[in-house]
Amino acid sequence: MAHPILSPSRLPVIAPSILSADFAHMGRDAGEVLRAGADALHLDVMDGHFVPNLTMGPDLCRCVRRALPDAFLDVHLMVTDPALFIEPFAKAGAGNITFHCEVVSRDAAVALAARVRALGASVGVAINPPTPIEKIEALADLADLLLVMSVNPGYSGQAFMPEVLAKTKRLRATYPAMRIQMDGGVSLANAAEVRAAGCDVIVAATAIFGRPAAERPGVIAALRGDPTR
Ligand code: DX5
Ligand code: ZN
Repeated sequence: MAHPILSPSRLPVIAPSILSADFAHMGRDAGEVLRAGADALHLDVMDGHFVPNLTMGPDLCRCVRRALPDAFLDVHLMVTDPALFIEPFAKAGAGNITFHCEVVSRDAAVALAARVRALGASVGVAINPPTPIEKIEALADLADLLLVMSVNPGYSGQAFMPEVLAKTKRLRATYPAMRIQMDGGVSLANAAEVRAAGCDVIVAATAIFGRPAAERPGVIAALRGDPTR
């Protein structure tokens, strides 16, 4: 299977966030969305410090990897000290590891990116809505993927913040070959403008897991803008 982040695709990559899956039945729910057409699983890792919530760790990642050996695991570190988690998540099966531009210096980001790649994963850099775009542009040369948060991170089910679309358009114009991911409040109501702004990797938790399983294939295809569906 091609690497969803490093290999270009005609249509956007859809990565359901398992934050909204049933943690008591994670293997079932995660497997179900992959069978429904998702390209990857997005793991929202929160430390209760960088963001107010505490969600999942390397052991959950390892269990998902064991249950779904072919799944691509896209790990989003919403943590104050990403250096603590690079190795544990890479060894637990992460295929992409994203850290936030708000918590690293340029030198620290250079070292983090090198470690992520040495461990066989691709590198993402994320930015929160209030953070000036220059913070992520200063690190973009290190990244395979730029993650634009469209909510203030912490919880799924929040309202999409359309003001981040301007930031997204500028990143797409500056980095035409970059994977640009949007995460937070993405739904069928705004996916077309998210794609039009230049996103080619879409995270959704509520829009997918909040719907009955039978509807998820159609939702995933619609988020992707798949004309054949
Ligand atoms: C940060 C998390 C959420 C989650 C998406 O809070 O990263 O953005 O992935 O959740 P929904 O799609 O329900 O907004
Ligand atoms: Zn995320």
